[in-house]
Amino acid sequence: MNSFHYIDNILHCEETPVQEIVEEFGSPLYLYSKNQLLDNYRSIDGAFEGTDHTTCYALKANSNLELLKILQKEGAGADAVSAGEINFALRAGFHPSKITFAGVGKQDAEIAFALKHDIFSFNIESIEELAVINDIAGKMNTKARIALRINPDIDAATHPYISTGLKTNKFGIDINVAVETFKYAASLPNLQVDGIHTHIGSQIMKLDPFVQTAQRVVDMVKELRTLGINIQHIDFGGGYGVTYKNAIKHPFLPLEDATSADETPGNNAFITSVLPILKQVDCKIVIEPGRSIVANTGMLITKVLYRKDNGVKKFVIVDAGMNDLIRPSLYHAYHQIVPLTVKEGEREHVDVVGPVCESGDFFARERAMPFVQRGDYLAILTAGAYGFSVSSHYNARPSVAEVLVNGDKVRVIREREKIEELK
Ligand code: LLP
Repeated sequence: MNSFHYIDNILHCEETPVQEIVEEFGSPLYLYSKNQLLDNYRSIDGAFEGTDHTTCYALKANSNLELLKILQKEGAGADAVSAGEINFALRAGFHPSKITFAGVGKQDAEIAFALKHDIFSFNIESIEELAVINDIAGKMNTKARIALRINPDIDAATHPYISTGLKTNKFGIDINVAVETFKYAASLPNLQVDGIHTHIGSQIMKLDPFVQTAQRVVDMVKELRTLGINIQHIDFGGGYGVTYKNAIKHPFLPLEDATSADETPGNNAFITSVLPILKQVDCKIVIEPGRSIVANTGMLITKVLYRKDNGVKKFVIVDAGMNDLIRPSLYHAYHQIVPLTVKEGEREHVDVVGPVCESGDFFARERAMPFVQRGDYLAILTAGAYGFSVSSHYNARPSVAEVLVNGDKVRVIREREKIEELK
């Protein structure tokens, strides 16, 4: 399924022409497809058929409340990384028994907040954190259900900023001391050791790192059981990669230079490749996908403000900036950029840049694009994950609007911020 597609050379989101939406609601604008969201969620969750599991959507990818409500109604759980995200999850109606809490730096007040709401699991990342949670739970006369996040020292072969399963990363507990740490956790009176957790990185395109991780986790569950530590659930994290290049193909659009490594094996494959391994130990399985559920659900629409040609380079200056979508600036991430109406004609190589006062404020460099000019709109594709949620007010730029399409119905799911509302 691809909910963003051209009909008669005009870009549509589901059944609605994108141009009509942006003319009504203004630019820049995040635009989401409800049916793509549902399809993505179902393709992941459905792969578990017959297995005791929860798909805990990782809120950090996109925490718009209306999108959360849609996933919650589908039966999803929520993976949070702060009290703020736990609160979003609760507001969207997620049951606390389906909320996990990850993160290397949980604050005392956040721990207390999560304990008060009796969430499903704290995913613990250090030995000191174990002691702190035990202490706070004791003071609150309660027990914390926990999982230990293991760092399996596996290379996820992704961008170094989003690789999390290597010894050199700050995440998780070194696999070599994991058994000792589990024993210590089991000795603490206010903790209930329930699970084992891993998350080796994000935008992972190969199945092999997941398969290796699954094997290590299962081996550890078996070893822990011989020691009397009866692990009940495996939280296998998220990280399933999505396709950014050639997300939309059209005869009038340049074919982007891509290899098989740029193409996702598919949501279903990520699950089916590890499920037989994980099932060996008869645990409940939790996963925490973010990007694979929302990335291709959304795009950022932006308007061309100016063109500039200095003889060396051609710039297309647009009204969205790195504060709205930081992925290209931060990771040199690739997002396909397409016009809302495609025409047959010449292509040129341009830098697509924003208005922010930094040379790092770009969406594409030396990109082959159809000719566009002032007043045209562009769609920056596959921007539903880590787009709005990572946006900022840098340069005192207000947050853009978010709009949801369901067939031919369109509604605002976050109002555009006004400059008077900036704090
Ligand atoms: N679970 C944990 C513990 C995580 O740290 C993350 C992502 C996820 C689940 C969800 O991973 P996903 O399925 O979305 O790959 N801003 C970066 C991505 C940062 C990922 C952080 N952790 C980007 O734009 O590529």
